[in-house]
Order: sequence, then structure tokens, then C-alpha cells
Amino acid sequence: MRSSWFNKLHLFFGPRPPLNWLLLCLVSVLVVIVLLGSSSSSVYDSLNASVSPAIYTNYRRLKEQAVSDYLELRNLGANHVKDFDLCGKERENYVPCYNVSANLLAGFKDGEEFDRHCEVSQDRQHCLVRPPKDYKIPLTWPIGRDVIWSGNVKLSKDQFLSSGSMTKRLMLLEENQISFHSDDGMIIDDVKDYSHQIAEMIGLGSDTEFLKAGVRTVLDIGCGFGSFGAHLLSLKLMPVCMASYESTGSQVQVALERGLPAIIGNFISRQLPFPSLSYDMVHCALCGIIWDDKDGIFLIEVDRVLKPGGYFVLTSPRSRKEGSSTGSKQGSMSTPFEEFTQKICWNFLAQQEDTFIWQKTADAHCYISSKQNTMPLCQKEDVQSYYQPHVHCISGTTSKRWIPIQDRSSGSLGSAELEDRGVDPEDFFEDMEFWRSGLRNYWSLLSPLIFSDHPKRPGDEDPLPPYNMIRNVMDLNAHYGGLSAAFVEASKSVWVMNVVPLGARNTLPVILDRGFLGVLHDWCKPFPTYPRTYDMLHAKGLLSHLASEGCSMINLLFEMDRILRPEGWIIISDKVGLIEKARALATQLRWEARVIDLQNGSDQRLLLCQKPFVRK
Ligand SMILES: *[C@@H]1O[C@H](CO)[C@@H](O)[C@H](O)[C@H]1NC(C)=O
Ligand SMILES: *[C@@H]1O[C@H](CO)[C@@H](O)[C@H](O)[C@H]1NC(C)=O
Ligand SMILES: *[C@@H]1O[C@H](CO)[C@@H](O)[C@H](O)[C@H]1NC(C)=O
Repeated sequence: MRSSWFNKLHLFFGPRPPLNWLLLCLVSVLVVIVLLGSSSSSVYDSLNASVSPAIYTNYRRLKEQAVSDYLELRNLGANHVKDFDLCGKERENYVPCYNVSANLLAGFKDGEEFDRHCEVSQDRQHCLVRPPKDYKIPLTWPIGRDVIWSGNVKLSKDQFLSSGSMTKRLMLLEENQISFHSDDGMIIDDVKDYSHQIAEMIGLGSDTEFLKAGVRTVLDIGCGFGSFGAHLLSLKLMPVCMASYESTGSQVQVALERGLPAIIGNFISRQLPFPSLSYDMVHCALCGIIWDDKDGIFLIEVDRVLKPGGYFVLTSPRSRKEGSSTGSKQGSMSTPFEEFTQKICWNFLAQQEDTFIWQKTADAHCYISSKQNTMPLCQKEDVQSYYQPHVHCISGTTSKRWIPIQDRSSGSLGSAELEDRGVDPEDFFEDMEFWRSGLRNYWSLLSPLIFSDHPKRPGDEDPLPPYNMIRNVMDLNAHYGGLSAAFVEASKSVWVMNVVPLGARNTLPVILDRGFLGVLHDWCKPFPTYPRTYDMLHAKGLLSHLASEGCSMINLLFEMDRILRPEGWIIISDKVGLIEKARALATQLRWEARVIDLQNGSDQRLLLCQKPFVRK
């Protein structure tokens, strides 16, 4: 389904003399209308022999849309409309906004060069990021968690050879595979012992009791290659790996390649894109942060994202002290650090070997009543925390979400809790109901047969989907996280990165409080992840939202192409005009694409696409 007709157009008219512009434009618009019209109606025709009358009422709108689409396509910079070019080899692992050399040139230093600086590298080249020469489709879950293709990730020679720290160990198997467990069970056993040790230190009999003790979501800062997170997932916890951008040996890239939740991020100069009271545990094993630096601002940020009663687990060899410059006292953390944790009402629980655990207070009055000289409370609550500047105060104490993790009602949110978060329970439960059937329908579409001449409709049984591996899913406009919930209910072995677009209603606290992963993101900008890290992207209503924000659809689709692995799937659901526009662009991006009429009399359409495996 390439846009061969665009090429034909070009062939017909050859290099275009400027004077013929009007004529050409007119003719092309007519051709586009005829083609768009005929291709869409053929889809509708075959879906239902008795053609739906909606097509005729929509025809005029379609025609107008086609004209404006064509004009936008023309204005993309190229003189003629054709498939977009592939980027050069240097962009194989390209993450926009994270160009370290450009950041250094712009004067960022002291670690801030690894930060997200979209304003520095605003080079929005319209080219398709291609996979490395020896890229292979990842193995299916759960095999892919333990064995990955070495050609798919960028590792340096050293990283290959070293056996690394406990969380960063890997082995080269054969010549093109990397394994994260060894035959003697060494790596796995170490991680299991470590997890067990943490459980004991917080007073549990075993790490299988984490959930019962209220520990569900874990922010794993600098996660190594994700082995600890992989173990927590097997205990049904929801860990997410977060690490700074790294040009080789990226912890985030490797974790995602293994099918483990991960996102690029740090809090060197700004807050994380999460609201306060988001996580039950924050974990750092050799994560490279100098915790007592900058007047403890990093500890305040950890405190902000921790839920009341949540845990901060720090594993750091005393001798190294994570770069602490002052001489270290043997056997204990340095005094300023210890003093600071008291100022923010953390309770020191235990130390074993190199591991230290603190617990955030569950008592919001601790900050005021405590005799110690505590941190002041923030005057303003963070409403929409999106890479905000750091603050020297304690957040969340007046929030209705200040609920100690140990007291949390198990599992789902009740009506009262929803109302506390400004959510209409009826709306919420309707959304859940919608996604129960919605997921079944979507799942049944994920087969290349959808692009063949035999049309399929949502709900049809055969062929057996999904056709290929789906593990890492992103919901680009997650609302309440209903798709996530439906996946859990249907016991699919996927995890969902729930993204709440900036400017939409901020439902992120609800998503996080349901125990799902989520992040705020401005879709006018690139997403902080490596290329080829998601297997499926889902966007319901995002095109309408972006149109209302005045953002470019083409930039979004390029970004989707970048973060989707070859043969991955895209499901976009929106109004018919926007869908037709996206479909035209999708063919230019070389995606297989099909518009599906939901046949319920609405002007909503689905656009189902699959990214091809372009080797070249
Ligand atoms: C087509 O539409 C008609 C009436 O709108 C309906 O009765 C019929 O079941 C539909 N056919 C299919 C295949 O959906
Ligand atoms: C990063 O920035 C440098 C310096 O501005 C530039 O030469 C280089 O092309 C950029 N890299 C990418 C991948 O855009
Ligand atoms: C039609 O279905 C879509 C998605 O399945 C839904 O969003 C929309 O509200 C439905 N419209 C009507 C009129 O039922």
C-alpha cells in the first residue's frame, strides 16, 4: 500500500515549472480526491455490501479535507510527494532532545548535558530512523526477557566483557545473543537474594509479601539492565526503570529490549514528570546520584514522588559513597545525609551490608509537630508536574491522595476515592466497560491479513492474532488507563506505558493510583525513549487533541515511527477527517495502513497500521 500513485504523479509531470503550479495543484487535488474517495469507500463497501449512508453525508467533508491534506503534504518541504527518506546510519539510536555534544556546546555541564534539552536540538529532519544492519525481531516474552539479540542494542566492548554489578550483569551467548541469566543460576540467585534481603529489612518474611505490605509500584533509578525489575515483575509488582540518556550501554534501551518497563529521565536540574505521591518504593543501586549534593534537593524529589509510608532503598558501597567528597565514617552513612533524612521526616529502618532503607512518614503532621528543624511545607501543590524546577519544600501533605501505602484498600479505586480525585465514577466505570470489549476488538485486528483483500471487522474471529510479539505497549492518550486495565483483566503478557498528554485533563494521578505506570508528556515534543522500543502504539483522540493544541501531525507520526520496532502496530482512533489525513501520511511513512469504519453511525474511524521492516 505504498503511495505509488504519488510517485506516478511525479512521473507524469516531471520537474515542475513554477508557472504550472496552479494547474498541477488542481489536477493533483482531483486525483487525490478520487483515490482517497475510492479507497475509503472500497473499505466501507466490503465491510457491508449495503453501503452505509454515512459515506455520502461525509463525502463533502472528505473532499474538503483531501484538499487541505494535499496542501499540507505539498508544503512539507519536498517539491513532490513521495515516500520519506531513511535517515543515515548515525541516527540508528537517535533520541531527539538528548544530543549530549550539542548540549555541551550550548554550555550545559555538571551532568545537565545528559538532561532533556529539546530547545537545543530542534533539528526536526523528516527522515525515518532505520534499524542497525543486523537488527532482528526480539524473541517473544518471556524468553525475550532473558535473551536478546546483541545487534539490537548499542553496547561498547567493555560493557560486553565486564560481568558488571549485580543488576548489570550479562553474558555473551553464541555470537549474536546476550543472556541475562547464567546456567549456574548465579545472576538470578543474586537478584533473588537481594530482593529477599530488602523484604526482610522492611520487616517482611519474604519478598512475596511486598504486595500485601502495600508495595506495588517501584521507581528503579539507574536500573542496571533491569534484572531487579524483572524479578519484581515476577512477584506481580510494577517496577519502572528510569535512567539518564546514555549513548552506549543504555540501561533504558536494554531494559525495554528485554520487555521491561523503562523510560529515559533524571532529576539533575528539574523534577520528574510525575505528580507527587506516585510510587510505593524508590530504589537506587549504584545509580550514580550524589544524594547529599545540592542541599539535598535530590532527596526532596524522591520524597515528593514517594507515597506516605513508602520506602527509599539505597545500595551503595560505603567505601565509594557515590562520590561523596568528604571523608566517610566507616559503617554508617555520612552525618549530613542522616541529618537531612530527619529533616524530611524519614525513618531510618535498617542497614545490611551496603543496603540502607528509609521509610517516608505516613503522618502528614510530622513536618509541623516534630521538634527537629524540618523542611517547610510547599504553599502550592503541584497541579501538573511536568519537568518543573526543583522546590525546597515538602509536597503532597494536604492532598486527598495522602494515604499511607499500608492502609490502601486492595486493588481498584472505589467511588469515593474516584470522587476525591475529581473523577465521575459513572464515567470511570463506563470507560472500563468500553475497554473490555474494545481490547478484544483491537486484538482481533492485529494480523497482516487485515491489509489483504479480505477485509476484517472488529470482533471477527480468525485469523489468530496477534500475529507477532506484543509486549511493550504505549497508550499515547491514556485517559484513566482503561486499556491497561483491560490488558490486565485479559491476562495478556503486556505492560502499558500510559501517557497523559499535556493540556488534556490530568488523569495521571488516577492511573498511578490504580497501580499502573504513567507519565505526562507534551506530544508536540519527542518522547524520552530509544528507537524501536515499543511493539504497539495506541492513540485514541490524540489527533483531535493535538489539532486543538496546534501541533503538527506529521511530527507525531515520525515520532511514532521512531519509537516503534519494525513490524510493530499502530492503532489510531479519531474523527474521520483526521484519520484520512493520517492515512495519507502513513503511506508516505511506508506503513501498511487500513481505515476501519466502526459502523455505529459515528464519525469515528480506526486507522490500523503496521510498520514494515525496512532493511536497506
Ligand atoms: C450490513 O448492514 C445491514 C443494515 O445496515 C445489516 O443488517 C447487516 O447485518 C450488515 N452486514 C454486515 C456484514 O455487517
Ligand atoms: C548533535 O549535535 C552536534 C553538534 O551540534 C551535531 O553535529 C550532530 O549532528 C548532532 N547529532 C545528531 C544525531 O543530531
Ligand atoms: C462508536 O464507537 C466508538 C469506538 O468504538 C466510540 O468511541 C463512539 O462513541 C461510538 N459512537 C456511537 C454513536 O455509538
